[in-house]
Amino acid sequence: MPSEAQTLPPPPLARLPGTFDLTGLRIPHHVGIIMDGNGRWAQQRGQPRFMGHRAGTTNIRRVLEASATFGIKVLTIYAFSTENWARPPAEVRTLMQLLSRSLNDQLGELHANGVQIRHSGSLVGISDTLRRQILAALELTRNNTRIVLNVAFNYGGRAEIIDAVQRMMADRVPPDQISEDLLGEYLYTHGLPDPDLIIRTGGEYRLSNFLIWQAAYAEYYATPTYWPDFDEGELYRAIVTYSERDRRFGKVKVG
Ligand code: IPE
Ligand code: IPE
Ligand code: MG
Repeated sequence: MPSEAQTLPPPPLARLPGTFDLTGLRIPHHVGIIMDGNGRWAQQRGQPRFMGHRAGTTNIRRVLEASATFGIKVLTIYAFSTENWARPPAEVRTLMQLLSRSLNDQLGELHANGVQIRHSGSLVGISDTLRRQILAALELTRNNTRIVLNVAFNYGGRAEIIDAVQRMMADRVPPDQISEDLLGEYLYTHGLPDPDLIIRTGGEYRLSNFLIWQAAYAEYYATPTYWPDFDEGELYRAIVTYSERDRRFGKVKVG
């Protein structure tokens, strides 16, 4: 018999601001965000790049809350790519520390708010401490259902496919059994639906190795806004734009 506390729904992450009318909008189930522009945001203010990463990390919470409130069920955030290891060591250290600190400071509250944390990426090359923190976060929140926060960290789409192929071969999967569905089960995102909408902040028009398999039919939305400034209103605008898109999946429109 579950206790009363267990049966209570988690408290809402944020109240829906009255200005955001969701009537008639098609809400994407899974949104992926390429959180770009932290460095330029800081430089624009005469600050060092790490200040941008700090502001960017803080902004995740705001966008996560808005996503849950708008009814998005899976939010994948691109936080560190396999190519980002090529940045100066001090910047790489900052990015590792920011994830570690966020998990340390916010895990309890995220859990209390029904957020399920997932990790997409490789744990190879990550410090033991951070690896343990990530695994603990996944374990603690695995049964939460309000929203999935899938953190693409040490993630590369090509590395993910190579990893999947290697594990399929190690499992001795017969070649004629390899299908799109089976490959999907070997990807870091197994069990998650494909993204419906990919948002890129910071003004570039590229995927930078983000969800290259899964985003085959995602709608793409780019904004010049730097990630630390991407707020609820910007997310709303992206959803409205998505809502107006005609997703044909290669077919012709009937009627
Ligand atoms: C995105 O911001 C964060 C990461 C890639 C880790 P950037 O650090 O790429 O910021 P810009 O693109 O240099 O402004
Ligand atoms: C993409 O941003 C990676 C993340 C947001 C984590 P980058 O700044 O690394 O991408 P490029 O170098 O502009 O393609
Ligand atoms: Mg960048």
